[in-house]
Amino acid sequence: MSDLVMHITGARPNFPKAAPVVAALSDRGVAQKLVHTGQHYDDNMSAVFFRELGLPQPDVNLGVGSGSHASQTAAIMTALEAVVLEDRPALVMVYGDVNSTLAAALVASKLGIAVAHVEAGLRSFDWTMPEEINRVVTDRLADRLYATSADAVAHLGNEGVHADKIRFVGNPMIDTLLAHRDRFDGSRVRDELGLTDRYAVATLHRPGNVDDPAALAPLVQALSAVADEVDIVLPVHPRGAARLEQSGLLAHPGIHATDPVAYTEFLGLVADSALVITDSGGIQEETTVLGVPCLTLRPNTERPVTITDGTNQLVTAASLPETAAKVLAEGRPVTWPVPPLWDGHAGERIARDVVALLG
Ligand code: UD1
Repeated sequence: MSDLVMHITGARPNFPKAAPVVAALSDRGVAQKLVHTGQHYDDNMSAVFFRELGLPQPDVNLGVGSGSHASQTAAIMTALEAVVLEDRPALVMVYGDVNSTLAAALVASKLGIAVAHVEAGLRSFDWTMPEEINRVVTDRLADRLYATSADAVAHLGNEGVHADKIRFVGNPMIDTLLAHRDRFDGSRVRDELGLTDRYAVATLHRPGNVDDPAALAPLVQALSAVADEVDIVLPVHPRGAARLEQSGLLAHPGIHATDPVAYTEFLGLVADSALVITDSGGIQEETTVLGVPCLTLRPNTERPVTITDGTNQLVTAASLPETAAKVLAEGRPVTWPVPPLWDGHAGERIARDVVALLG
């Protein structure tokens, strides 16, 4: 039988999660293949992460690109099936909650190949989020479920996943953060945008926030109110770019928009900022470890540990200006909690378990 481990990545948030797992398996001499679905393809959404994170170049790029959820997921499945059939890996590893994750879990499980899901068990309980559908279905199909937090383990138990399949390993994305901490440097972007020492970082790309102008309008108003008080650097994800442009937000003198920035530059900006405002999942976790106050512009989070054991709080358009003013007045915390096992060793724990699983 094959002892090949095949990793499926495709979208920006996958890469910092996969990097430490690939490295730790490589240290153990495990045969691996890295597949890139091509869900993200711009240099600053994909290739820059491979250069910065020491991820090996993908062995295969399926080149599927953008599309509706059905067409993108279907294109990944069709292209990936041929690759999996040819290599017959012993284990397919999938990461997070993007369409590439779900597509790969479906392909592998239908071919009778074991699936391991890294970042299993997160739940927003919000079925309007495509990511929630991807998480739940992927976890249902997975043979091994690697959880980043205790609440995720509990959700899986509540859904009837047998405890034997679940491993609480910590957070591999935080492995990547801690490994590159010394290289974080936002100075190029700050200089280019003429930012002072005190600034906030904002990101906005979730369909529920940017796709509908009626939903976006109050957020634009709230962000403008914050930008009246503090400069905001806003790396614009391609998904929301046109709508944000049309909304007039980018014309505000306190909003400093830029293209998406590289990993070490982005986290350099975050690490030195007074405040982060975001609708991203991963950034809630990164700010928690960096001790940067995070205001999450969403009605819910699948990462509640960043609220209970971190620096995150949920805000609405209505509450954002006042909450931001309060956070700015208080300043950054001197000490703050960090969730259990977010210690830089999740990749090693996963690799140790994968080796045992492969027997
Ligand atoms: C995907 C993930 C989301 C994650 C986000 C991070 C799903 C369902 N969603 O959302 O969970 O937070 O990635 O970035 O998988 N585009 C480009 N260049 C690219 C990639 C995308 O211009 O390299 C544009 C295209 O117009 C595309 C749109 O962005 O249609 C959306 O891309 P897509 O991958 O479908 O979803 P994201 O919004 O990036």
